[in-house]
Amino acid sequence: MATIAGELRRWTDKLERLDISWLLQHVLDVNAAFLVAHPDYLLTAEQTQAFHELMTKRAAGVPVAYLTGKQGFYDLIFEVTSDVLIPRPETELLIETVLAMIPVNHPCNILDLGTGSGAIAITIARHRPHVHVFALDISINALLLARRNAGRLSVSNIDFVASNWYAALGAIRFDGIVANPPYIASADPHLQQGDLRFEPMLALVAEHDGLSCLRKIISQAPQFLHQGGWLLFEHGYDQAAACRQLLTAAGFTELIRQSDFAQIDRVSGGYCQSIFR
Ligand SMILES: C[S@@+](CC[C@H](N)C(=O)[O-])C[C@H]1O[C@@H](n2cnc3c(N)ncnc32)[C@H](O)[C@@H]1O
Repeated sequence: MATIAGELRRWTDKLERLDISWLLQHVLDVNAAFLVAHPDYLLTAEQTQAFHELMTKRAAGVPVAYLTGKQGFYDLIFEVTSDVLIPRPETELLIETVLAMIPVNHPCNILDLGTGSGAIAITIARHRPHVHVFALDISINALLLARRNAGRLSVSNIDFVASNWYAALGAIRFDGIVANPPYIASADPHLQQGDLRFEPMLALVAEHDGLSCLRKIISQAPQFLHQGGWLLFEHGYDQAAACRQLLTAAGFTELIRQSDFAQIDRVSGGYCQSIFR
């Protein structure tokens, strides 16, 4: 018969201890404290089989979030599937920057380009109930999941839009545009490593140098922003200088830059001064 302590021991030299713990918690539907407090707890045959199946998949590289079907982001838990990018802690820098730019109780409308699981759109909408968020993606499966996440998290100040970037938006203008677009170059060897191997290429890869999506997003943003509106986005660790050039070329001023814990610029943006006609 399998016990908690026995299973933790059995897999420890094959997989990360934290991953084993997460997956055991998931199968038993308990928290980490339970595992510590009940080392002799006996797993049922079904639980043992389910756990071993998950461990085998994890050993093959499948991300923990796809195995448990959930991922924490900022202060919320999101359902995730292999149709969407697993929300990253790095993207919380984008959230912090956006929330600092939107006064509490200030009604405005914000566009989230490439919403995926809805992590950015839903977090903003939850923290700023007076804001109306438009969450846009080209992937219908991502939009269905994002809508489910919004429902589960009781967030209703969001509209979901299927669109190839701005194509389906018509004449609407926004107070702010936020994006975490694909920005990995198609030849980047990281795509063959770790979790990235299992995530949708549509969510990761931007043609050639990794900047093709950002070029479109930045150059067309003035057509969809009010005067004084802002654009803010995440980019690769080595893309900040190129992004500043693109922002300046598109007429953005008062450029914004935010760096991560390693002091690397990972969020850039600016304000749109000229109204595009
Ligand atoms: C890096 S993921 C970001 C997901 C989510 N916003 C997050 O931060 O976790 C990029 C998203 O852009 C979407 N996307 C890719 N190309 C697109 C396009 N041409 N138009 C709209 N969305 C697109 C992908 O489907 C994916 O959901």
